[in-house]
Amino acid sequence: MRKLFVAGNWKMNLDLKASCALASALKAQVGNVDDVTIAVCPPFVYLKAVADALAGSKIAVGGQNMWTEPDGAYTGEVSGPMLRDVGCTYVIVGHSERRHVIGEQDAVINTKVHKALGFGLKPILCVGEKLEHRQAGKTEDIVSGQVRAGLKGVTQQQMALITVAYEPVWAIGTGQNATPAQAQEVHALIRRLAAGLYDRKTADGLVIQYGGSVKAENAGELMSQPDVDGALVGGASLGAAKFLPIIQAARNKK
Ligand code: PGA
Repeated sequence: MRKLFVAGNWKMNLDLKASCALASALKAQVGNVDDVTIAVCPPFVYLKAVADALAGSKIAVGGQNMWTEPDGAYTGEVSGPMLRDVGCTYVIVGHSERRHVIGEQDAVINTKVHKALGFGLKPILCVGEKLEHRQAGKTEDIVSGQVRAGLKGVTQQQMALITVAYEPVWAIGTGQNATPAQAQEVHALIRRLAAGLYDRKTADGLVIQYGGSVKAENAGELMSQPDVDGALVGGASLGAAKFLPIIQAARNKK
């Protein structure tokens, strides 16, 4: 069975003190958990402090984004090697807020996936349709297109390092999560796509997180779906009391 993966995407939230306090609380409560993969993705400026606070635990740290080049004249950007240097093992790539607020396109997202792998980071590739796409019956087209484009050129061997996060844009930060059936339908589609692009074994091993208004109340039901292998959690990852039950829900999946 796939190991479930719960990651907290803190986005542009918390401050230094709160970031360290949250990391310490998670370390105390679930620092030794190894039946589920746990990661937190704080803002860049708090990565080192959070990684230090989590040192000695099994909780991993990830960046929320990275630039494609290792160094150079890219004002305001942060590189993969820098993320590695401060203790990251993961990096979120192609989050919908980067696609739709910042304007990142599939091509640069694909480049980031390759570069992240090259820098020794495990990409969490985010995909998901907007409400208008869903209403127009285009969910499958949009998600398939993003998965194909994001994974272009990724080898079968590298697929073991990739996580895909299905995050319907209309569900992010809205309180309106996809229903378990809606999530399962798209997760199964992504897995079929991976089987077609690679093979059955690679597809069966691919961890596919669901993201979009995941909280304690819906996490168990979402993760009970056969192809939902964990969660990428925004708002409900900003406090231990809200995040821990989601981790527990993943641990409870049989
Ligand atoms: P949310 O965000 O849990 O606040 O909806 C999820 C995400 O954007 O990763």
